[in-house]
Amino acid sequence: MKSKLQKTKLLSALIVLTAVFIAGAAKAQSKPWIVPASAKAIKNPLACTPATLKEAKTLYVTNCAPCHGEKGKGDGPAAASLTPKPANHTSAVIREESDGSLFWKLSEGRTPMPQYKKILTETQRWELIDYIRSLSKSK
Ligand code: HEC
Repeated sequence: MKSKLQKTKLLSALIVLTAVFIAGAAKAQSKPWIVPASAKAIKNPLACTPATLKEAKTLYVTNCAPCHGEKGKGDGPAAASLTPKPANHTSAVIREESDGSLFWKLSEGRTPMPQYKKILTETQRWELIDYIRSLSKSK
């Protein structure tokens, strides 16, 4: 039979292991989001017009604003409870990212953001990239 001391040791080892595991999982989330170079280089094939922007606004308000906020500041009603936080689509980091890179991230998703290639058409996703750009301009 095991001694009480052995049991205690086993228990504390388990606790440490669990903590390491949780820390590891949290770290996985803060990993840089690597976009393949080929995807980064892709240019937006759509012509941005008032009509496509209007359509994208409707898509954005319905699909994206709950997390990213109506104006794309990353402050939607669901944002407070999310880790990592939804990106601020008007930030300098996003402004400097290529259309292709944003399109790829939107398409692939990363928890908690859904994989939009399964939800929206390619045209809708490119329209949304134009819309994200317009959010920075209309500040
Ligand atoms: C459930 C909440 C949620 C919804 C809905 C959502 N996003 Fe996101 N989005 C996030 C989070 C969180 C991140 C940051 C993910 C990360 O860094 O790992 C993110 C990141 C992004 C990025 C990448 C920004 C960067 O780092 O370059 C883009 C682009 C984006 N979202 C666009 C959209 C668009 C467009 C929609 C609507 C079609 C949308 N998101 C809907 C939560 C959401």
